[in-house]
Amino acid sequence: MKPPRKLHIKSYGCQMNVYDAQRMVDTLAGEGFVETASVDDADLVILNTCHIREKASEKVYSELGRLRVVKDDAARQGREMKIAVAGCVAQAEGEEIIRRAPTVDVVVGPQSYHHLPQLLARAQAHGRALETEFPVEDKFGFLAPPKPAAIRARGISSFVTVQEGCDKFCTFCVVPYTRGAEVSRPVGKIIDDVMRLADNGVREITLIGQNVNAYHGEGPDGRTWPLGRLLHRLAEIPGIVRLRYSTSHPRDVDDSLIEAHRDLASLMPFVHLPVQSGSDRVLAAMNRRHTARDYHEVIDRFRAARQDIAFSSDFIVGFPGETEEEFSATLALVMQIGYAGAYSFKYSPRPGTPAADMRETVSAAEMDERLVRLQDLIDSQQSAFNKAMIGKTVDVLFERAARNPGQIVGRTAWLQPAHVMASPDIIGQVLPVTIESLERYSLLGELAPAAAPPAPSSLSQMTTGA
Ligand code: SAH
Ligand code: SF4
Ligand code: F3S
Repeated sequence: MKPPRKLHIKSYGCQMNVYDAQRMVDTLAGEGFVETASVDDADLVILNTCHIREKASEKVYSELGRLRVVKDDAARQGREMKIAVAGCVAQAEGEEIIRRAPTVDVVVGPQSYHHLPQLLARAQAHGRALETEFPVEDKFGFLAPPKPAAIRARGISSFVTVQEGCDKFCTFCVVPYTRGAEVSRPVGKIIDDVMRLADNGVREITLIGQNVNAYHGEGPDGRTWPLGRLLHRLAEIPGIVRLRYSTSHPRDVDDSLIEAHRDLASLMPFVHLPVQSGSDRVLAAMNRRHTARDYHEVIDRFRAARQDIAFSSDFIVGFPGETEEEFSATLALVMQIGYAGAYSFKYSPRPGTPAADMRETVSAAEMDERLVRLQDLIDSQQSAFNKAMIGKTVDVLFERAARNPGQIVGRTAWLQPAHVMASPDIIGQVLPVTIESLERYSLLGELAPAAAPPAPSSLSQMTTGA
């Protein structure tokens, strides 16, 4: 028997890339590859890249510079190492990668990675291979062959792609160009994946998509199902105790989704709902197609459906032409909403996007200063949210042994890591934990006695921050 070949994969960017990396590992497992944590002994190294901001995509070339040295060392020892670039930079700049980085053997876009075995064979025969064609459907196995590898369980919590691509064309964003048009997977395929994962020990499913609540997949009844209806159906699958979804767009929050939050105990009360800015002028220039008022209304609908719901968001500071007053509107929105956490970024012009041609740029110094002010505010809200857990008893889904011996770690409904001293038998169970203290972003607590009182229902108050 041939010894297994070793695969090292490094993923950047969003949850879609994390998921895609897992699927690449699953696909290549069929070719006799096993994953290795070290790049030095790998037979194949895959960089799964992100194009969202300039820093992310420039990283690829510096990483490739380092990999060339490793590859040359391997060659000197008589070992062949192949290098593949996958993900959104591959999609956006495939030809340029081939030109700039002779060390790269395969370039494969996010829609084509199930062809990796064929591409590797092609690279072996002809030197190098590039594939960055759409259509998206192929990856999900609508067209045959080759069929993508079946999804494999990895622990207690799993991502499942339900939707891919984006038709929103926010003026700053590359995703519609790198991931293509919005496509939803049929309900039946998603149910099959979730059932398979549940059979293999998965207890929590996060449905993912660039714009997950734009989901409109074909149901078994031949009708188009919105995300809320899909969630209702998945909640019936035995073994699945928690459901989440990410990332949502405020414009695509429909009644079905609000009803799902009202009706489904297993749908977690934590929603990532990026708003980007609190200024209507900036929101319009970003082509977000909603106002700050619209966003507040969406948040109110969620809160009315489920009292303990909390939110996170994404923000961009220094979008072209953003004035101090417009930035203050963002701070005001954050104060009013009260987040459990959020990501904030300095605007980065991306080639080919409409905003890249906007002339009124914000200076680097101003951007830095605004980012600090926004992040300070978000940090204070996040710590207030976490601190408010102390003394409360909340449900935790236990996922694995923690680094400290004897400790088991899981997550609360709001994705906070929570540690307890307990037997590993509790892994995979949801148990009430009384939170005693906070260490950075982690909660420490004790398993509550079985008859502990239920978690208090006034958590929404905590989201108003400090
Ligand atoms: N589909 C999601 C997320 C897209 S990318 C959504 O619509 O919200 C994740 C985040 O990166 C975005 O929410 C945005 O805040 C940020 N981002 C995207 N393009 C950017 C750019 N050109 N410069 C800075 N941040 C950007
Ligand atoms: Fe990008 Fe906007 Fe689509 Fe999100 S909704 S992926 S920010 S274009
Ligand atoms: Fe990056 Fe592509 Fe995701 S650009 S954020 S990896 S969709």
